[in-house]
This record gives sequence, structure tokens and C-alpha cells, in this order.
Amino acid sequence: MIKMAPSILSADFCDLGKDVDEVRAAGAEYLHVDVMDGVFVPNISIGVPVVKSVRKHTDMFLDVHLMITKPHRYVERFCEAGADLVDFHVEADEPQDVLSAIRLVKQCGKKVGLALKPKTPAEVVFPYLHLLDLVLVMTVEPGFGGQKFMADMLPKIRTLRARIDQINPDCELEVDGGIDVHTSPLVREAGANVLVAGSAVFREADRAAAIRAIRAAKSTESR
Ligand code: DX5
Ligand code: ZN
Repeated sequence: MIKMAPSILSADFCDLGKDVDEVRAAGAEYLHVDVMDGVFVPNISIGVPVVKSVRKHTDMFLDVHLMITKPHRYVERFCEAGADLVDFHVEADEPQDVLSAIRLVKQCGKKVGLALKPKTPAEVVFPYLHLLDLVLVMTVEPGFGGQKFMADMLPKIRTLRARIDQINPDCELEVDGGIDVHTSPLVREAGANVLVAGSAVFREADRAAAIRAIRAAKSTESR
């Protein structure tokens, strides 16, 4: 089953509660929350207090994507703030600290995911795969919404799908960046089952129609 994860990075932060309610009512399975520290990525977004407020406001499954350096320092705080799943970047910490961050999230009773930047090969997450609930493949350079989908990520998605099916079939495969009605069929065909979409959902007045369209889009010849 395909799960939709609207990213609140493209929501209206003055009207966040209403935007969250709309995507929940539209049947989105996850709410994707992008946390950026201005160091790991060249942008700053939101942090623990916003996750806490969103948690109080909604019962949606909160998928918190940490784009921060040395995430092992902060994962517990995001779990306590109400994340249901914490995903952080494999490039952002030393291997032993990646492992300790995975353990910390699990000890908090939450789900854990590892994210890969476009230049990071699929193989880098193989050693952790048996421990993970989700792998997040960035299909743009992390940092900003509204960028163009990188079609050269499709082979990486296929490689990860094959490995996940072999090693840990319950692990989800999420894609993030440039997902819309045109790119959704490509990533689904490659094996992704969780689709993050920011601008393609929140720039539309009818969020429910946007989510339906992305979830079910069929591939077209002309792009
Ligand atoms: C980018 C973030 C994404 C972003 C996606 O670094 O991780 O979640 O919100 O935005 P769109 O869907 O507009 O590419
Ligand atoms: Zn994200």
C-alpha cells in the first residue's frame, strides 16, 4: 500500500493547524516534519517546540526528518516531543553514533529510519538495514522544498527495494523531494511505498485532490 506523507515545510506556519487537519482529513497516512540546522543543510527550519505543538494538535503519525549534524545528540528529544518515527542522515554522524542513535530511538519505543543524500550509495545503509523501520531516499539535495526531482535516483530506489525485500521486508522505503503526479508513478514502479510531497500538496487549494492525484497517478509518455 502506498502511504502519503505531506511535508509541512511547504505549509503556512501561521495556519499550521488548519493545514494539518486538511491533509489528515484527506487520508494522508504520515505527516512529514523537516528539521534543518543550517549546518548539515544550507537552511534552517523548525525544531522540537513545533513537533510538540503539532503532537498536541493531531493524532497523525509524525515522521520527523532530521537534517542536522550529529543527530545522536537530539533524537531522544524529538521522540519525547512526540515523533512516531525519527529519520536522520547516515552521512551526519560517525558509524558508531549512527548505531547509538538507532538504539536511542528504539529505546524510546519509536520507529527509526535512515536517510541518504543523493550522492550516498544505497550500500551505505546495508549494514543497518536489519535494524530499521524505514529508509528515506532523497530525490533532491536536502534543504529546500520545490526542487526538481532527480530521476537518476531511480536505480538506487530499485537497489534498496531488492535488498529490503531480502533482508527486512517490513522496512518501508520513502522518497522525498520533487514528488508530484509526474514523478509518483516512477518512484512507485521503482519500489518506494511512502511518498513525501511538500509543494505539490500545499501549493494546491484542494489538498485532498492533490493527495489523491499523487497517490494514484499513472505514468504518461509525455513529460
Ligand atoms: C527537503 C525536504 C523535503 C521537502 C520536499 O530537504 O526534506 O521534505 O519538504 O519538498 P517538495 O515536495 O516540494 O520537493
Ligand atoms: Zn524531508
